[in-house]
Amino acid sequence: MADLILGQTLSFTADPFAEGAGAAEHRRHGAVLVEGGRIAAVGEAEALRRAHPQASVTDHRDALISAGFVDCHMHYPQTGIIASWGKRLIDWLNHYTFPEEMRLADPAVAADTAARACDLALAHGTTTLASYCTSTPVSVEAFFAAAEARGMRVIAGKTCMDRHAPPGLIDTPERAHDESAALIARWHGRGRLGYAITPRFAPTSTPEQLEALGALRAAHPDCILQTHLSEQTDEVAWVAELFPEARDYLDVYERFGLADASSVFGHAIHLVPRERDRLAELGAGAAHCPTSNSFIGSGLFDLVGLKAAGVRVGLATDTGGGSSFSMLRTMAAAYEVAQLRGHAVHPAALWWLATQGSAEVLGLGGTIGNLVPGREADLVVIDLASTPAIAQRAARAESFWEALFPTIMMGDDRAVRAVWVNGRPARGAD
Ligand code: GUN
Ligand code: ZN
Repeated sequence: MADLILGQTLSFTADPFAEGAGAAEHRRHGAVLVEGGRIAAVGEAEALRRAHPQASVTDHRDALISAGFVDCHMHYPQTGIIASWGKRLIDWLNHYTFPEEMRLADPAVAADTAARACDLALAHGTTTLASYCTSTPVSVEAFFAAAEARGMRVIAGKTCMDRHAPPGLIDTPERAHDESAALIARWHGRGRLGYAITPRFAPTSTPEQLEALGALRAAHPDCILQTHLSEQTDEVAWVAELFPEARDYLDVYERFGLADASSVFGHAIHLVPRERDRLAELGAGAAHCPTSNSFIGSGLFDLVGLKAAGVRVGLATDTGGGSSFSMLRTMAAAYEVAQLRGHAVHPAALWWLATQGSAEVLGLGGTIGNLVPGREADLVVIDLASTPAIAQRAARAESFWEALFPTIMMGDDRAVRAVWVNGRPARGAD
Protein backbone atom coordinates (compact mmCIF):
# COMPACT_ATOMS: atom_id res chain seq x y z
CA MET A 1 0.00 0.00 0.00
CA ALA A 2 1.49 3.36 -1.07
CA ASP A 3 0.92 6.75 0.56
CA LEU A 4 0.90 9.94 -1.47
CA ILE A 5 1.60 13.04 0.60
CA LEU A 6 0.81 16.36 -1.05
CA GLY A 7 2.23 19.80 -0.22
CA GLN A 8 5.14 22.00 -1.09
CA THR A 9 8.33 19.96 -1.26
CA LEU A 10 11.97 20.81 -0.59
CA SER A 11 14.90 18.64 -1.60
CA PHE A 12 18.56 19.15 -2.44
CA THR A 13 20.66 18.20 -5.44
CA ALA A 14 23.91 19.50 -3.91
CA ASP A 15 25.35 21.38 -0.92
CA PRO A 16 24.02 24.98 -0.92
CA PHE A 17 27.21 26.18 0.81
CA ALA A 18 29.06 25.19 -2.37
CA GLU A 19 26.38 25.64 -5.02
CA GLY A 20 24.10 28.36 -3.60
CA ALA A 21 20.33 28.22 -3.42
CA GLY A 22 20.28 26.50 -6.84
CA ALA A 23 21.23 23.34 -4.94
CA ALA A 24 17.69 23.29 -3.55
CA GLU A 25 14.67 22.05 -5.47
CA HIS A 26 11.30 23.47 -4.39
CA ARG A 27 7.91 22.43 -5.74
CA ARG A 28 4.92 24.63 -5.06
CA HIS A 29 2.47 21.79 -5.77
CA GLY A 30 4.57 18.76 -4.97
CA ALA A 31 4.07 15.25 -3.71
CA VAL A 32 6.03 12.49 -2.04
CA LEU A 33 5.17 8.84 -2.68
CA VAL A 34 6.01 6.57 0.25
CA GLU A 35 6.07 2.82 -0.17
CA GLY A 36 7.62 0.07 1.93
CA GLY A 37 9.22 2.53 4.34
CA ARG A 38 11.03 4.41 1.60
CA ILE A 39 10.54 7.45 -0.56
CA ALA A 40 9.45 5.95 -3.87
CA ALA A 41 9.01 9.18 -5.84
CA VAL A 42 9.05 12.96 -5.48
CA GLY A 43 7.41 15.11 -8.13
CA GLU A 44 4.51 17.26 -9.21
CA ALA A 45 1.30 16.46 -7.34
CA GLU A 46 -0.90 16.04 -10.41
CA ALA A 47 1.53 13.78 -12.23
CA LEU A 48 2.05 11.52 -9.21
CA ARG A 49 -1.70 11.38 -8.52
CA ARG A 50 -2.35 10.21 -12.06
CA ALA A 51 0.48 7.69 -11.96
CA HIS A 52 -0.59 6.22 -8.59
CA PRO A 53 -4.39 6.23 -8.45
CA GLN A 54 -4.45 3.50 -5.77
CA ALA A 55 -2.29 5.42 -3.29
CA SER A 56 -3.82 6.73 -0.10
CA VAL A 57 -3.68 10.54 -0.35
CA THR A 58 -3.01 13.08 2.42
CA ASP A 59 -3.15 16.69 1.26
CA HIS A 60 -1.18 19.16 3.37
CA ARG A 61 -1.88 22.01 0.89
CA ASP A 62 0.53 24.91 1.55
CA ALA A 63 2.55 23.13 4.21
CA LEU A 64 6.12 22.12 3.40
CA ILE A 65 7.21 18.49 3.20
CA SER A 66 10.89 17.95 4.00
CA ALA A 67 13.18 15.20 5.13
CA GLY A 68 12.89 14.93 8.93
CA PHE A 69 15.42 16.91 10.93
CA VAL A 70 18.64 15.19 11.97
CA ASP A 71 20.15 16.31 15.29
CA CYS A 72 23.76 15.18 15.07
CA HIS A 73 24.81 15.85 18.69
CA MET A 74 22.66 15.76 21.79
CA HIS A 75 22.60 14.27 25.28
CA TYR A 76 19.27 12.58 25.93
CA PRO A 77 20.09 12.14 29.68
CA GLN A 78 20.11 15.93 30.01
CA THR A 79 16.52 16.33 28.78
CA GLY A 80 15.27 17.13 32.29
CA ILE A 81 17.91 19.79 33.03
CA ILE A 82 17.56 21.85 29.86
CA ALA A 83 17.52 25.58 30.67
CA SER A 84 19.45 25.37 33.95
CA TRP A 85 20.71 28.80 34.99
CA GLY A 86 23.97 30.51 35.49
CA LYS A 87 26.96 28.24 34.77
CA ARG A 88 29.68 27.90 32.19
CA LEU A 89 30.83 24.54 30.85
CA ILE A 90 32.89 22.91 33.62
CA ASP A 91 30.71 24.27 36.45
CA TRP A 92 27.58 23.43 34.48
CA LEU A 93 28.80 19.82 34.10
CA ASN A 94 29.61 19.49 37.81
CA HIS A 95 26.58 21.32 39.14
CA TYR A 96 23.74 20.18 36.89
CA THR A 97 24.85 17.53 34.42
CA PHE A 98 26.74 14.91 36.38
CA PRO A 99 24.14 14.71 39.20
CA GLU A 100 21.38 14.30 36.61
CA GLU A 101 23.34 11.66 34.66
CA MET A 102 23.80 9.74 37.90
CA ARG A 103 20.02 9.45 38.25
CA LEU A 104 19.91 7.40 35.04
CA ALA A 105 21.64 4.46 36.75
CA ASP A 106 18.08 3.64 37.77
CA PRO A 107 16.57 1.77 34.80
CA ALA A 108 13.15 3.32 35.40
CA VAL A 109 14.57 6.85 35.28
CA ALA A 110 16.58 5.98 32.16
CA ALA A 111 13.52 4.51 30.42
CA ASP A 112 11.35 7.50 31.32
CA THR A 113 13.99 10.01 30.19
CA ALA A 114 14.67 8.14 26.94
CA ALA A 115 10.96 7.97 26.11
CA ARG A 116 10.55 11.68 26.83
CA ALA A 117 13.60 12.61 24.73
CA CYS A 118 12.38 10.59 21.73
CA ASP A 119 8.84 11.94 21.99
CA LEU A 120 10.05 15.53 22.31
CA ALA A 121 12.30 15.05 19.29
CA LEU A 122 9.44 13.72 17.17
CA ALA A 123 7.12 16.50 18.35
CA HIS A 124 9.73 18.96 17.05
CA GLY A 125 10.08 17.19 13.70
CA THR A 126 13.41 15.57 14.51
CA THR A 127 13.45 12.00 13.27
CA THR A 128 17.10 11.11 13.93
CA LEU A 129 19.17 11.79 17.04
CA ALA A 130 22.85 11.12 17.65
CA SER A 131 22.92 10.98 21.43
CA TYR A 132 25.40 10.59 24.21
CA CYS A 133 24.09 8.35 26.98
CA THR A 134 25.57 8.18 30.51
CA SER A 135 28.39 5.90 31.56
CA THR A 136 26.00 3.13 32.65
CA PRO A 137 25.05 0.58 29.97
CA VAL A 138 21.50 0.71 31.32
CA SER A 139 21.17 4.23 29.91
CA VAL A 140 22.21 3.00 26.45
CA GLU A 141 19.79 0.09 26.58
CA ALA A 142 16.98 2.48 27.54
CA PHE A 143 17.67 4.85 24.67
CA PHE A 144 17.96 2.19 21.97
CA ALA A 145 14.81 0.51 23.27
CA ALA A 146 12.86 3.79 23.18
CA ALA A 147 14.04 4.57 19.65
CA GLU A 148 13.34 1.04 18.42
CA ALA A 149 9.82 1.15 19.85
CA ARG A 150 9.20 4.30 17.78
CA GLY A 151 10.92 3.04 14.62
CA MET A 152 13.49 5.85 14.79
CA ARG A 153 16.94 5.74 13.22
CA VAL A 154 19.29 6.80 16.00
CA ILE A 155 22.95 6.63 16.89
CA ALA A 156 24.07 6.49 20.52
CA GLY A 157 26.78 5.26 22.84
CA LYS A 158 27.92 4.85 26.40
CA THR A 159 29.74 8.01 27.52
CA CYS A 160 33.14 6.89 28.77
CA MET A 161 34.84 8.76 31.64
CA ASP A 162 37.50 7.53 34.05
CA ARG A 163 38.50 10.78 35.75
CA HIS A 164 37.29 14.26 36.73
CA ALA A 165 33.72 13.13 37.33
CA PRO A 166 31.85 11.83 40.41
CA PRO A 167 32.63 8.24 41.49
CA GLY A 168 29.13 7.13 40.48
CA LEU A 169 29.82 8.01 36.84
CA ILE A 170 33.41 6.89 36.55
CA ASP A 171 34.46 3.70 34.79
CA THR A 172 37.93 2.36 33.96
CA PRO A 173 39.80 1.84 30.69
CA GLU A 174 38.82 -1.85 30.74
CA ARG A 175 35.16 -1.26 31.60
CA ALA A 176 34.85 1.49 29.01
CA HIS A 177 36.22 -0.88 26.39
CA ASP A 178 34.34 -4.00 27.44
CA GLU A 179 30.97 -2.39 28.13
CA SER A 180 31.12 -0.46 24.85
CA ALA A 181 32.09 -3.65 22.98
CA ALA A 182 29.19 -5.55 24.51
CA LEU A 183 26.76 -2.77 23.57
CA ILE A 184 28.10 -2.74 20.00
CA ALA A 185 27.54 -6.50 19.76
CA ARG A 186 23.99 -6.16 21.05
CA TRP A 187 22.76 -3.01 19.29
CA HIS A 188 24.94 -1.84 16.38
CA GLY A 189 23.18 -2.46 13.09
CA ARG A 190 20.06 -3.86 14.74
CA GLY A 191 17.21 -2.40 12.68
CA ARG A 192 17.73 1.34 12.50
CA LEU A 193 20.12 1.59 15.44
CA GLY A 194 23.80 2.45 15.22
CA TYR A 195 26.49 2.63 17.87
CA ALA A 196 28.80 5.58 18.51
CA ILE A 197 32.01 5.03 20.45
CA THR A 198 31.81 7.92 22.91
CA PRO A 199 34.68 9.24 25.02
CA ARG A 200 33.01 12.26 26.69
CA PHE A 201 35.97 14.61 26.06
CA ALA A 202 39.71 14.56 26.65
CA PRO A 203 39.61 15.94 30.23
CA THR A 204 37.46 13.08 31.56
CA SER A 205 39.53 10.25 30.09
CA THR A 206 43.01 9.13 31.15
CA PRO A 207 45.48 8.40 28.36
CA GLU A 208 44.93 4.71 29.20
CA GLN A 209 41.22 5.01 28.57
CA LEU A 210 41.75 6.87 25.29
CA GLU A 211 44.14 4.11 24.26
CA ALA A 212 41.60 1.42 25.08
CA LEU A 213 38.94 3.27 23.08
CA GLY A 214 41.38 3.71 20.20
CA ALA A 215 41.75 -0.08 20.07
CA LEU A 216 37.95 -0.46 20.15
CA ARG A 217 37.62 2.12 17.40
CA ALA A 218 40.13 0.23 15.23
CA ALA A 219 38.16 -2.99 15.76
CA HIS A 220 34.87 -1.30 14.77
CA PRO A 221 35.56 1.06 11.86
CA ASP A 222 31.87 0.93 10.90
CA CYS A 223 30.82 2.70 14.11
CA ILE A 224 30.96 6.45 14.33
CA LEU A 225 32.99 8.07 17.07
CA GLN A 226 31.59 11.11 18.88
CA THR A 227 33.25 13.44 21.37
CA HIS A 228 33.70 17.11 22.23
CA LEU A 229 36.39 19.43 20.89
CA SER A 230 37.42 22.99 21.81
CA GLU A 231 34.14 24.23 23.24
CA GLN A 232 35.39 26.77 25.80
CA THR A 233 38.77 28.47 26.20
CA ASP A 234 39.18 27.25 29.82
CA GLU A 235 38.59 23.70 28.62
CA VAL A 236 41.19 24.08 25.84
CA ALA A 237 43.75 25.33 28.40
CA TRP A 238 42.92 22.40 30.70
CA VAL A 239 43.46 19.92 27.87
CA ALA A 240 46.85 21.51 27.13
CA GLU A 241 47.82 20.97 30.80
CA LEU A 242 46.56 17.38 30.88
CA PHE A 243 48.16 16.39 27.57
CA PRO A 244 51.33 18.55 27.32
CA GLU A 245 52.78 16.38 24.55
CA ALA A 246 49.86 17.06 22.17
CA ARG A 247 50.18 19.83 19.58
CA ASP A 248 46.61 20.97 20.19
CA TYR A 249 43.26 19.59 21.36
CA LEU A 250 42.49 17.62 18.18
CA ASP A 251 45.96 16.09 18.34
CA VAL A 252 45.00 14.38 21.63
CA TYR A 253 42.35 12.42 19.75
CA GLU A 254 44.63 11.84 16.76
CA ARG A 255 47.34 10.35 18.96
CA PHE A 256 44.93 7.71 20.23
CA GLY A 257 43.41 6.83 16.85
CA LEU A 258 40.19 8.67 17.67
CA ALA A 259 40.00 11.08 14.74
CA ASP A 260 38.96 9.95 11.29
CA ALA A 261 36.27 10.36 8.63
CA SER A 262 33.67 8.77 10.93
CA SER A 263 34.33 11.09 13.86
CA VAL A 264 31.89 13.78 14.92
CA PHE A 265 33.36 16.55 17.04
CA GLY A 266 30.86 18.57 19.06
CA HIS A 267 31.31 22.37 19.14
CA ALA A 268 34.78 22.79 17.54
CA ILE A 269 34.78 26.53 18.21
CA HIS A 270 38.25 27.56 19.38
CA LEU A 271 40.30 25.82 16.70
CA VAL A 272 43.81 26.73 15.62
CA PRO A 273 44.37 26.68 11.83
CA ARG A 274 46.06 23.27 12.01
CA GLU A 275 43.00 21.74 13.65
CA ARG A 276 40.64 23.24 11.09
CA ASP A 277 42.76 22.04 8.17
CA ARG A 278 43.23 18.61 9.74
CA LEU A 279 39.48 18.15 10.25
CA ALA A 280 39.04 18.84 6.54
CA GLU A 281 41.87 16.50 5.58
CA LEU A 282 40.48 13.69 7.75
CA GLY A 283 36.94 14.19 6.42
CA ALA A 284 35.78 14.42 10.04
CA GLY A 285 32.53 16.14 10.96
CA ALA A 286 31.86 19.11 13.24
CA ALA A 287 28.54 19.37 15.07
CA HIS A 288 27.47 23.01 15.20
CA CYS A 289 25.52 23.58 18.43
CA PRO A 290 24.62 27.28 18.28
CA THR A 291 21.98 27.51 21.03
CA SER A 292 24.33 25.72 23.41
CA ASN A 293 27.31 27.81 22.40
CA SER A 294 25.39 30.95 23.36
CA PHE A 295 23.62 29.49 26.38
CA ILE A 296 26.75 28.13 28.12
CA GLY A 297 28.75 31.10 26.88
CA SER A 298 31.15 29.11 24.69
CA GLY A 299 31.72 31.26 21.62
CA LEU A 300 30.91 31.87 17.97
CA PHE A 301 31.39 28.81 15.74
CA ASP A 302 32.98 29.69 12.38
CA LEU A 303 30.37 28.02 10.17
CA VAL A 304 31.26 29.75 6.92
CA GLY A 305 35.01 29.50 7.53
CA LEU A 306 34.90 25.79 8.31
CA LYS A 307 32.69 25.01 5.32
CA ALA A 308 35.02 27.03 3.07
CA ALA A 309 37.98 25.05 4.45
CA GLY A 310 36.19 21.83 3.46
CA VAL A 311 35.12 20.67 6.92
CA ARG A 312 31.90 18.67 7.00
CA VAL A 313 29.37 20.34 9.32
CA GLY A 314 26.02 19.24 10.74
CA LEU A 315 23.58 21.01 13.02
CA ALA A 316 22.74 19.97 16.56
CA THR A 317 20.75 20.99 19.62
CA ASP A 318 23.27 19.72 22.22
CA THR A 319 20.33 19.17 24.57
CA GLY A 320 20.51 20.03 27.49
CA GLY A 321 23.47 22.43 27.13
CA GLY A 322 21.44 23.72 24.21
CA SER A 323 18.36 25.72 25.06
CA SER A 324 15.85 24.21 22.63
CA PHE A 325 14.68 20.85 21.30
CA SER A 326 13.75 22.56 18.03
CA MET A 327 15.97 22.36 14.96
CA LEU A 328 14.09 25.44 13.68
CA ARG A 329 15.27 27.40 16.73
CA THR A 330 18.71 25.88 16.18
CA MET A 331 18.76 27.07 12.54
CA ALA A 332 17.77 30.54 13.79
CA ALA A 333 20.66 30.52 16.26
CA ALA A 334 23.05 29.40 13.51
CA TYR A 335 21.86 32.28 11.35
CA GLU A 336 22.37 34.81 14.17
CA VAL A 337 25.84 33.55 15.08
CA ALA A 338 26.92 33.70 11.42
CA GLN A 339 25.57 37.28 11.27
CA LEU A 340 27.73 38.16 14.27
CA ARG A 341 30.68 36.86 12.24
CA GLY A 342 29.68 38.89 9.19
CA HIS A 343 27.84 36.32 7.08
CA ALA A 344 24.17 35.97 6.12
CA VAL A 345 23.57 32.24 5.62
CA HIS A 346 20.90 31.47 3.03
CA PRO A 347 17.77 29.64 4.28
CA ALA A 348 18.58 26.80 1.86
CA ALA A 349 21.95 26.31 3.56
CA LEU A 350 20.38 26.39 7.04
CA TRP A 351 17.79 23.78 6.06
CA TRP A 352 20.45 21.61 4.42
CA LEU A 353 22.56 21.70 7.60
CA ALA A 354 19.60 20.46 9.67
CA THR A 355 18.86 17.58 7.29
CA GLN A 356 21.40 16.38 4.71
CA GLY A 357 24.40 18.07 6.35
CA SER A 358 23.77 16.38 9.67
CA ALA A 359 23.02 13.06 7.97
CA GLU A 360 26.36 13.22 6.15
CA VAL A 361 28.45 13.78 9.28
CA LEU A 362 26.75 10.73 10.79
CA GLY A 363 27.60 8.60 7.74
CA LEU A 364 23.92 8.46 6.80
CA GLY A 365 24.08 10.82 3.81
CA GLY A 366 22.70 8.22 1.41
CA THR A 367 20.13 6.85 3.85
CA ILE A 368 18.19 9.79 5.32
CA GLY A 369 18.29 13.59 5.19
CA ASN A 370 16.90 14.34 1.74
CA LEU A 371 13.63 14.02 -0.09
CA VAL A 372 14.81 11.82 -2.92
CA PRO A 373 13.72 8.38 -4.13
CA GLY A 374 15.36 5.48 -2.31
CA ARG A 375 15.90 7.25 1.01
CA GLU A 376 14.17 6.00 4.11
CA ALA A 377 10.89 7.84 4.56
CA ASP A 378 11.55 10.01 7.61
CA LEU A 379 9.58 13.17 6.89
CA VAL A 380 8.39 16.33 8.55
CA VAL A 381 5.50 18.48 7.35
CA ILE A 382 5.94 22.13 8.34
CA ASP A 383 3.16 24.71 8.59
CA LEU A 384 4.62 27.94 7.20
CA ALA A 385 2.02 30.07 9.03
CA SER A 386 2.04 28.39 12.44
CA THR A 387 1.65 31.50 14.59
CA PRO A 388 0.02 34.89 13.90
CA ALA A 389 3.44 36.56 13.91
CA ILE A 390 4.88 34.12 11.37
CA ALA A 391 1.69 34.10 9.26
CA GLN A 392 1.58 37.89 8.86
CA ARG A 393 5.24 37.97 7.75
CA ALA A 394 4.96 34.99 5.43
CA ALA A 395 1.85 36.52 3.82
CA ARG A 396 4.00 39.35 2.44
CA ALA A 397 6.63 37.03 0.98
CA GLU A 398 7.42 37.30 -2.69
CA SER A 399 9.43 34.09 -2.93
CA PHE A 400 9.50 30.66 -1.35
CA TRP A 401 12.65 31.49 0.63
CA GLU A 402 11.08 34.68 1.96
CA ALA A 403 8.05 32.63 3.02
CA LEU A 404 10.22 29.98 4.70
CA PHE A 405 12.58 32.30 6.57
CA PRO A 406 10.06 33.57 9.19
CA THR A 407 9.43 29.93 10.17
CA ILE A 408 13.18 29.32 10.46
CA MET A 409 13.60 32.40 12.64
CA MET A 410 10.42 32.23 14.72
CA GLY A 411 9.15 28.66 14.40
CA ASP A 412 9.10 25.84 16.93
CA ASP A 413 7.08 22.68 17.56
CA ARG A 414 3.85 24.55 16.74
CA ALA A 415 5.03 24.50 13.11
CA VAL A 416 5.21 20.71 12.98
CA ARG A 417 2.01 19.46 11.38
CA ALA A 418 2.97 15.84 10.77
CA VAL A 419 5.95 13.54 11.14
CA TRP A 420 6.63 10.28 9.30
CA VAL A 421 9.07 7.75 10.67
CA ASN A 422 10.28 4.89 8.50
CA GLY A 423 7.35 5.31 6.12
CA ARG A 424 4.63 5.55 8.75
CA PRO A 425 3.02 8.40 10.69
CA ALA A 426 5.01 8.87 13.90
CA ARG A 427 3.54 7.22 16.90
CA GLY A 428 4.43 6.72 20.55
CA ALA A 429 5.94 3.46 21.69
CA ASP A 430 4.00 0.32 20.68
N1 GUN B 1 31.75 18.65 27.19
C1 GUN B 1 31.84 17.49 27.87
N2 GUN B 1 30.62 17.03 28.22
C2 GUN B 1 29.74 17.92 27.75
C3 GUN B 1 28.31 17.99 27.79
O1 GUN B 1 27.60 17.15 28.35
N3 GUN B 1 27.75 19.07 27.17
C4 GUN B 1 28.49 20.02 26.55
N4 GUN B 1 27.88 21.05 25.96
N5 GUN B 1 29.83 19.97 26.51
C5 GUN B 1 30.44 18.93 27.10
ZN1 ZN C 1 27.64 17.79 23.92
